[in-house]
Amino acid sequence: MPEISVVVPAYRERENLPALIAALDEALRGHDWETIIVIDDAEDESEILVREHAQRNPRIRCMLRVGRRGLASACIEGMLSSSAPYLAVSDADLQHDEKSLPDLIAAIKRSDADVAVASRYATGASTGDLPRHRVFMSRLATGFSRLLGVTLSDPMSGYFVVSRKYLDSVVRKLYGRGFKILLDLVSASDGRVRVVEIPYRMRSRAHGESKMSFRVISEFLALVLYRMCGRLFPARFFLFLAVGLSGMAVHLAVLSAMFGLTAGDFLLSQATAITVAMTGNFFLNNIFTYGDRRLRGTRMWRGLLAFYAACGLGALINVSVADWLFLKAVDYRLAGMAGAAVAAIWNFLTTASVTWGDSGRKRQ
Ligand code: GDD
Ligand code: MN
Repeated sequence: MPEISVVVPAYRERENLPALIAALDEALRGHDWETIIVIDDAEDESEILVREHAQRNPRIRCMLRVGRRGLASACIEGMLSSSAPYLAVSDADLQHDEKSLPDLIAAIKRSDADVAVASRYATGASTGDLPRHRVFMSRLATGFSRLLGVTLSDPMSGYFVVSRKYLDSVVRKLYGRGFKILLDLVSASDGRVRVVEIPYRMRSRAHGESKMSFRVISEFLALVLYRMCGRLFPARFFLFLAVGLSGMAVHLAVLSAMFGLTAGDFLLSQATAITVAMTGNFFLNNIFTYGDRRLRGTRMWRGLLAFYAACGLGALINVSVADWLFLKAVDYRLAGMAGAAVAAIWNFLTTASVTWGDSGRKRQ
């Protein structure tokens, strides 16, 4: 059994894979290792390439996921498919210098730590030629992670080694979405995690482009919220709520525009505003809240209709609850808010199952 499994998430990285495999082979000479390349299907034949290598080299393993996306979940599932006592995570685009792997392994063993992190911000390290706005974002995100009591110099690093023992102790508490698998791992432990850091110099991507996106940023913020709110609600709920709030702004904007255009036809203006806001909410939720299981093609249009139906019922419930409370002499503002809160939960729960098919499935 290998001592270390190097888990490499890869999406559209075909051109980088041969050089990556060669670099791992070179860097880990003398170690007992394997690599698990977790490919999310982009129909670019990455998996065929990895399997060809695997035929010749038993240290190479390929894990293909179809119809799935996500850096963090790819890493988690890759780690769980291994039985090695140490698990490394490293990117496929050659930004992480593979030569640091032996140092990371030595560091985690020597200090008996839970995690050894390759840091871009420790003394002697460097972000290489990472663009300035990316360094700024990474710094900002590091600031946010302080809210969770995480004090590493580079909690946003995607390059680290974790012990099997530690992984097993937190695996059921992981958030598992977005890019920030290291932050997820260390913040799952309630502060009882022992970390060592070693400096490294980040390189620039060899081929292809970064998959960082606005959606990834929103998933990072949802991770921070999720940890801060003590897991009272499923993580998606916060994204759903944020989309709902943005929908209110859209509603108001459309309402006032239409009210002006139609010279005061309130019913028409309100109906238009509701339709636009609901439609916008559907698409935003489809991209952000459920980006990992995004509906496309006919399933998307069917989903939109289901969304209208569920939220339409939600509006009825909203009015009924508010009206009932109002008749019980509750302050009208409070009654209105209570109606909206019940409807938000209703909308979330029903659309999670009828629109995005979450029923019976555990959070992922
Ligand atoms: N399987 C899978 N599925 N892999 C993915 C996905 C996905 O949905 N999205 C990205 N990856 C893979 C990429 O193919 C690459 O190997 C690695 O995850 C990192 O993605 P990049 O798109 O290259 O991200 P980045 O360079 O902007 O950011 C990375 O480096 C930073 C610094 O270490 C990430 O690892 C960040 O988390 C990290 O902060
Ligand atoms: Mn990269």
